Amino acid sequence: MPTKNVPEDNAVGIDDLSVYVPRLFLPLAGEFSNNRGIDPGKLIKGIGIERMAVPDAHEDAATMAAMSLLDLMRRTHLRPEEIGKIYVGTESALDEAKALGTYVIGMLEQIYGKGSFQECSTVEFKAACIGTTLALESQSYWAAVEEEGKVGIVIASDVAKYPLASAGEYTQGAGSVALLVKKNPRLLALEQIYGTFTRDENDFFRPMGCTTAVVNGKHSNQCYLDAMRGAFDSFAAKAKRLKAIAPEKGEGITDFVDHLLFHIPYPRMVEYASAAIFRYDWRESCRSKEIEQELGQEPKALEYDDPERYQAAEADYARHFAKSKQFLQAYQAKVRDTATLSRQIGNIYTGSIYLGLASLLEMQKIHAGERLCFGAYGSGCSALFFSALAQPKVASVPLRGLLQRLEERRQISLQDYERLHEGKKEKSVLPPRGEFALVRIDHQGYRHYEYAE
Ligand code: HMG
Repeated sequence: MPTKNVPEDNAVGIDDLSVYVPRLFLPLAGEFSNNRGIDPGKLIKGIGIERMAVPDAHEDAATMAAMSLLDLMRRTHLRPEEIGKIYVGTESALDEAKALGTYVIGMLEQIYGKGSFQECSTVEFKAACIGTTLALESQSYWAAVEEEGKVGIVIASDVAKYPLASAGEYTQGAGSVALLVKKNPRLLALEQIYGTFTRDENDFFRPMGCTTAVVNGKHSNQCYLDAMRGAFDSFAAKAKRLKAIAPEKGEGITDFVDHLLFHIPYPRMVEYASAAIFRYDWRESCRSKEIEQELGQEPKALEYDDPERYQAAEADYARHFAKSKQFLQAYQAKVRDTATLSRQIGNIYTGSIYLGLASLLEMQKIHAGERLCFGAYGSGCSALFFSALAQPKVASVPLRGLLQRLEERRQISLQDYERLHEGKKEKSVLPPRGEFALVRIDHQGYRHYEYAE
């Protein structure tokens, strides 16, 4: 692995993170797969999700956000007056005007005292699943110039929801991730190189008033891949121009990356994304010769009169590439483990990519000096590709016991899941304990939350 620049003392990045996942889950194999008439092999292997996290009747994006922030504050002994900004990435907004972060502050002030967060500003970032990453980018510029010793918080919180019995249903999930952003972080220093791609698409959206997303599934996969490649190109050009990454002849950008994290709508998508990026990055590297020996030549558009025949040949080649020795080695070494938590939770939309980071941290896969590259995606559509360096103290940050916590969740029946999904279950499956709960929505639509001891 070529050497990397050592980050300077005034680096900005992620100091710690907390994850909140609801205590209920629905296994995809069994009652669900039987009822929907789907082979469980498709869900477990073809999609890659084993269990979907399901929010209870008293939970929503605000309670989950408050829970991940409370855990982060407790683990880091952070006081409210030390927090300068709370940016929330969400596409599960609870109000057309009021920022979700104000509900979160209201809940946390029940613990820390009324007015304790009054000098902290909060704003919501909506850009489908990329919202949190755009919030992180934006907050990192603020953290770099902050002079009062304050830190920033970026929270992702979402309930991923599609209509019952639709093709999106088995890619649902729910959860929140809170990131502590500051100077001299213990986990990751951002290299502040961002590659962007944006275009107007109808791959996935949720018109005003709808509770579930409209999705053009296959098209959404293609938009994701196109955007990711565009953002990777933009990142690669900037990284080379800034000399942060300087590949020699025969080397690719990914040769300088130890862990590659992507947005995880479902784990198989990460496999498709990494195959597309490695294949693209290796096109002029020494690996391309070895791959050609294994798979034969790539199809070239110019050699086909019929565009459909070219598309079919290209899809066939992509399938073979995803099974090639070179790809499988790179995937297992740099990508596979990022999806460990997502297999047990499902899509949490804007926090999914940071579940990937939590997976690596909990499995103690990140070592000081390693470079991580993130490929965030948001439907609509945008991608952002950026990098960070693992800091010397990365191994000293306490683990979170997440894999154990997921094992302690309660399995629910298909009937309870469907009633929760449709908002027909008024009483919680598990009464709230040691957590924030939505207790009432009043006649004006204002939401009331309480901490249940
Ligand atoms: P689908 O029609 O259920 O799945 O759609 P499929 O027929 O394409 O099959 C998936 C894989 O399972 C295939 O693997 C099958 O062969 C395999 P591949 O051929 O690609 O290697 N398979 C089996 N494997 C083992 N045993 C079997 C079996 N049968 C089939 N018996 C889709 C899948 C994801 C499109 C659908 O679930 C969906 O619409 N989901 C929601 C949208 C989505 O997640 N899109 C992802 C990209 S967009 C995105 O990431 C943004 C998002 O997070 C939102 C945001 O930004 O806010 C969604």
